[in-house]
Amino acid sequence: MKQKLIVGNWKMNGSLAANQALVQGVLAGMQGLNVRAAVCAPAAYLASLQVLLQGQTALSSGAQDLSMHESGAFTGEIAAAMLREFATRYVIVGHSERRQYHGEQDAHVALKAQQALSAGITPIVCVGETLAERQAGRTEEVVKRQLAAVIHTNGHCISEIVVAYEPVWAIGTGLTASPQEAQQVHQVLRQQLKAATPQADRVAIVYGGSMNAANALSLLQQPDIDGGLIGGASLKVSDFLAIMAAASQCAQAS
Ligand code: 13P
Repeated sequence: MKQKLIVGNWKMNGSLAANQALVQGVLAGMQGLNVRAAVCAPAAYLASLQVLLQGQTALSSGAQDLSMHESGAFTGEIAAAMLREFATRYVIVGHSERRQYHGEQDAHVALKAQQALSAGITPIVCVGETLAERQAGRTEEVVKRQLAAVIHTNGHCISEIVVAYEPVWAIGTGLTASPQEAQQVHQVLRQQLKAATPQADRVAIVYGGSMNAANALSLLQQPDIDGGLIGGASLKVSDFLAIMAAASQCAQAS
């Protein structure tokens, strides 16, 4: 099994002081772990994050959103090239909170992924069904439609993305997809990527939705779960490190 990717999504949390304590604690505790890791900070903190992460390679910096445009009269928006100036390695696109509260649609998400890729930033493309969609048996149809838009717009570059399967009903609720439920969806996404690129195995498909210290190992042990996108538990040093330790254990076992 290859190295797992563990990404913290801080969402709209933090302060200069809290971020510093969190990053320093994570960096100190992750030494020796066999894991790829990143934290996605609010845009206002990306400059300070760059300073905190200077001179080390264990933990990368990420953003939580970007503009679907390259530059121009888009008040409040942040361009991919701007993120790049702060050594941003990843950017989350199409998070369900953006789809739900900011009206983002599949086509917007696809363009955002395209902007990120053209600036050399890895987009973490989020897909996931709502509870109503799951209960109606529409999970596969929904996630495939969401990913198809990104594949369609980004063509052969698709092997450069990360996919995050985040069932909406599992985000911040304490409810988690069981390892089997998650694996089943990840497998569907892998097949979809395989049909689009011969390099589908390079694409990390990570799981997000109430992943925590207690459930991380059983999720990460699934063959198509290549890592995690972690909200609440990424804000506590000990919880985030415990998830990374589980990821490292999976990589060692391979
Ligand atoms: P929680 O881990 O808090 O459920 O959030 C998941 C998420 O939305 C990560 O992007």
